[in-house]
Order: sequence, then C-alpha cells, then structure tokens
Amino acid sequence: MTDAAQSDHPGADHPGAVRTRRGVFEVGERVQLTDPKGRLHTITLEAAREFHTHRGFLKHDDIIGAPDGSVVTNTAGVEYLVLRPLLSDYVMSMPRGAAVVYPKDSGQIVQMADIFPGATVVEAGVGSGALSMSLLRAIGEQGRLLSFERREDFADIARGNGRAFFGGDHPAWTVTVGDLVETLPTVVPSGTVDRVVLDMLAPWECLDAVSEALIPGGVLICYVATTTQLSRVAEGIRAHGGFTEPTAWESLVRGWHLEGLAVRPQHRMHGHTGFLISTRRLAPGVDAPERKRRPAKGAYGESAGTASATAMVDGGPDAAAPTDGGGNGALGASDTASVLGGGTATVIPGSTASTDIPADAWTPEALGERVKSDKTIRRVRRSLAETSDDLR
Ligand SMILES: C[S@@+](CC[C@H](N)C(=O)[O-])C[C@H]1O[C@@H](n2cnc3c(N)ncnc32)[C@H](O)[C@@H]1O
Repeated sequence: MTDAAQSDHPGADHPGAVRTRRGVFEVGERVQLTDPKGRLHTITLEAAREFHTHRGFLKHDDIIGAPDGSVVTNTAGVEYLVLRPLLSDYVMSMPRGAAVVYPKDSGQIVQMADIFPGATVVEAGVGSGALSMSLLRAIGEQGRLLSFERREDFADIARGNGRAFFGGDHPAWTVTVGDLVETLPTVVPSGTVDRVVLDMLAPWECLDAVSEALIPGGVLICYVATTTQLSRVAEGIRAHGGFTEPTAWESLVRGWHLEGLAVRPQHRMHGHTGFLISTRRLAPGVDAPERKRRPAKGAYGESAGTASATAMVDGGPDAAAPTDGGGNGALGASDTASVLGGGTATVIPGSTASTDIPADAWTPEALGERVKSDKTIRRVRRSLAETSDDLR
C-alpha cells in the first residue's frame, strides 16, 4: 500500500494533507472529459461505473490508474481527452447553490487583497465555495480561512465542493453557519484577522464587525454585482472612519480565437461579473486623513458642496436632493427605479443615492440575481453529500 493510499486524502503526501493533484487518476477524483467537438463532461471516478452518451459508453476503470492527459476511447470509437480539472475549470463546472466568483475575479481578489501563505482570512458568504478554494490555495495548509455563511444548505454545498476538490477536508478551513455580524466576534478575537473578503448582498452591514476583527493595516475587499451596491459600500466605508479611502475597479477578460490567419477576439465574453472595492484598516483611534480633493459638485446631490458622506448615510436633513444622475457616478432616478425594478417596483420619492434605499429593498431579486429553487438546492446538496461519503 502506498503512503497516499494510507492517508486521509487520495494522492496526498502525508495524512491530513490535501490531495497533491499529481500522479495517476484515482477513485473519487473528478475528471474532465473533452469530446472531439470540444464538449466538456465532468465525472467522478468510481470503480466498475460507466459513462454513457448517446454515442456509446466508456468505463471509469479505463481511466482509473491512467496518467493525467490520457486519451480513452468509448465503445463507439469516440476519443475523449481526460484531464484533471484546473481549479478554474473545476469552479466553473462544480455544483452550485449560489452564484460563484469567477476565476478572473478570484485571481484579482487573491492578488489585490494580498492573500499570503499563512494568512488568517475571513470570508463571507461562502455560497458554493468557489472563492474559498482560491483563498485556501493562496494561504496554504499553514494559514486559516474562516468562512461564514448564513444558509446551512449553502455551507454544506461549499464543504462538499471543497472536499471533492481537495480530496478531503482542507486542514486550514473552518465554515461557520450564521450571519457574519453575529458570529464573527464569537469566532475571532479583535484585531487578529489579516484579510477579509466579503461577497454578499449588503457588505456595508458588516463594516463594524470587520473593522473590529482586522489587524491595523489589514485589507478588506468586497465583491458586488451592481453599481448601486458599490456606491453604498463605498459611502459606508467612508462614513465608518476606520478605513482608508476605498479603491474600486472591475476586470474584463476577452478570450481570443486562434485559427490559422483568423486571429481575433472571440465574439462572446463575460461582459459583466462584478465590481471589486478594497480598503485598509487604520490603526485603532486614528482618523482617516482629511480628503484634500473634495467630491465633485453634485456628486452627493444639489447640496453637494457641503453634504458629507456621513450625512448621506444617515439620510438626515442634509441628505441629497435628486440629481439627474450625470456622468460623475451619481445615481439618477432611473438607477433607483431599476434597482427596485420588476413587478414590485417601489420608487422612493426624492431618493437618488444608494445610501437612501431602505435596508429591506436590497434583495437578490431586486439586484437581478437568478435565484435557484429550493428543490434544485436540495438536489445539489444531496449529490455532494453522497460524493463526500465516498471520500470518507
Ligand atoms: C454570491 S454568494 C457567495 C458566493 C461565493 N463567494 C462563491 O464564490 O461561491 C453570497 C452568499 O452570502 C451569504 N450571505 C449574505 N449575507 C451574509 C451575512 N451577513 N453573513 C453570512 N453570509 C451571508 C448568502 O447566503 C450567499 O450564500
């Protein structure tokens, strides 16, 4: 028996370690099959199982024990290229509960939030666990990833995806079920977390809890899907006072078609995934330096010259009046209407800033998320539980 076969994780160098993702294919691994037309199929290897399509079938046993990058032929003579999925392939094909962070954004998060080996990182929500896997890869087995998720069913899906990818429970990963604001202080002492990554609907609600957990100089990065959330979290960070001036960006990745002389951008691309916004924790008791460049006139509404971000967040008497939503990033009436769009549209008279929108208006549906049915989520959770049992 090899060391790997004795360990908790197939393909692991030592017991308790994550699978190395090297060597021959083993039972329990997910592998990616590419057919001659470039269609992808992902299967989990099981002894004596068969993979059927409308054109013949192939035996899992023909793949188990073969090296990565093999070609196997099915009963109808169709050749399949068999590869161990890269993390970026894996997250795009794994079962989902919630929408995942795409690899292009996970890469940005790891780099721009400066996720380093051995770091203590807090993440919420965990959703399907896609981002968690990139964070775990970056911190390594000596780091700590403390992930928080409100929904137990999503937490189970994330754990199942992680187990299937790493070949067992990653030693650096803890998933806590509960709201971040309520559970974070019970899990980590103040000032002990190096980095925080928030991918959720309303990250601004977590700023106090996050600021308490972060070390001075620690990084907070938030991933949000809409400009209205981006604006709301930016103003929240400024109003909080314990963070540096936030920076926001998005990344667009365009694939290229490469065929002889026809070398050009691909026609299709993911035009929009999300926005990133990052900031750093100031030392306790330190006030953010006063901004020398005042906001552009009108940025906070008609009384912009004098209206402070705090006034906007409080929605007090100084709160901005409607603007025409010009090109300076201010939100116009149409933006507000679209946030609250759909059959249940509620237009808030006189409200144009994201900070004026009531807390209960920020729903997944209002932000255009495609929400999966409870039935689908139950099915995904069940199938991952079965795979996890096979790995135990
Ligand atoms: C878009 S998903 C996260 C996807 C995840 N980053 C991934 O790559 O798979 C957002 C998740 O945040 C969770 N969530 C929202 N607010 C939360 C909070 N305050 N505390 C914990 N989880 C929260 C939701 O239940 C949802 O599962």
